[in-house]
Amino acid sequence: MPRVSINPLLPAPSNPPVPLPQVPGPKLEPFTPTAHADIEFLMYLGRDEDKDSYVWKVNINGNGPYALKMFKFNTWEYLGQCYGRWLSKRLAKPQFYADYFDPFNCECRVYGRLKQEQREELAVRSHGYLLLSSEQAHQVANLMGRSRDDPDDDDPATLYGHNFWDRDEQHRGHPVKAIVKEFVSDGGEGFNKTQVAKLWDDLKEFRKLGILVRDITIHNYIGGKLIDFSRAWTVYHPLFDWTTDSHVTDHLEMEAQELIDLLYTWARVTDQSGFKLPKGLKEHSMGEDESTDLNPGLYDWRKWEADQEAAQIFVDKTLVEKVDE
Ligand SMILES: Nc1ncnc2c1ncn2[C@@H]1O[C@H](COP(=O)(O)OP(=O)(O)OP(=O)(O)O)[C@@H](O)[C@H]1O
Ligand SMILES: [Mg+2]
Repeated sequence: MPRVSINPLLPAPSNPPVPLPQVPGPKLEPFTPTAHADIEFLMYLGRDEDKDSYVWKVNINGNGPYALKMFKFNTWEYLGQCYGRWLSKRLAKPQFYADYFDPFNCECRVYGRLKQEQREELAVRSHGYLLLSSEQAHQVANLMGRSRDDPDDDDPATLYGHNFWDRDEQHRGHPVKAIVKEFVSDGGEGFNKTQVAKLWDDLKEFRKLGILVRDITIHNYIGGKLIDFSRAWTVYHPLFDWTTDSHVTDHLEMEAQELIDLLYTWARVTDQSGFKLPKGLKEHSMGEDESTDLNPGLYDWRKWEADQEAAQIFVDKTLVEKVDE
């Protein structure tokens, strides 16, 4: 798939920093007033298979430890190809693909909503976002053994996305964005027998808060809590308003099925004889659950907007008719 896009460029995050992303709905605040900080990189926490980010144990301005999730770049065309097919309309600006579908922004919106609703205990906590200096971005690449023929992100005349941070021409000069999280050292990856009963209850709570997590794997839980929201959709989200009802149902069922697969695998690997799925989960995954309160699209996001009318006008202009190709 060609990934070059000279135009249009995406705007860099504003300076001084603002809560992100800058669209109606929940946002994440910067961790420091400038969104910059001294970072001491202590240890890599992720795995080779991680796609969206590099996660490190760090100290920040002499305090810590924290977990710092540093996000790779995605072109808006790539995000449009991945997700645009479910939309019955087209997003009006390239930036909107980043605002609603880029992994960094997806996580910001989840943490923003958990804060609005004072439900931060549902996940491993986030403390805000940071922007890496280019020296820090180079330092991480070097610490992780970037190969010699992987040039520094800003050197080549044209950036094609084939570099450590997947930086494309449209991201030239943009800082790498990162989210500061509570570092969880105990509990380990996944969950234990006591925590397993709560996993479906927690996912239902997320949905009632207007959040569909959409990425349920053992690696995305630590000590029974979710840590990874890079695929999550949080309302207001165009995917809930501008798609067919059957697509929304498909996504709800897919997420429930991911949890079922995960639980059966866990029960087999940990030898849980007589393991039973939580009540209602199987029915939900098969579309037999009639309850509508589990559709995140029904969440009243407008109640948090200072100017509800302006927010509605903004989202009404977020999509435009698709042009026939
Ligand atoms: N707060 C944390 N404390 C300790 N370890 C963490 C923390 N957050 C993440 N990790 C470790 O880093 C790994 C990767 O984190 P995460 O799942 O958030 O990113 P990712 O896998 O790159 O995202 P994606 O799954 O979308 O590709 C986790 O599986 C976990 O082992
Ligand atoms: Mg993950």
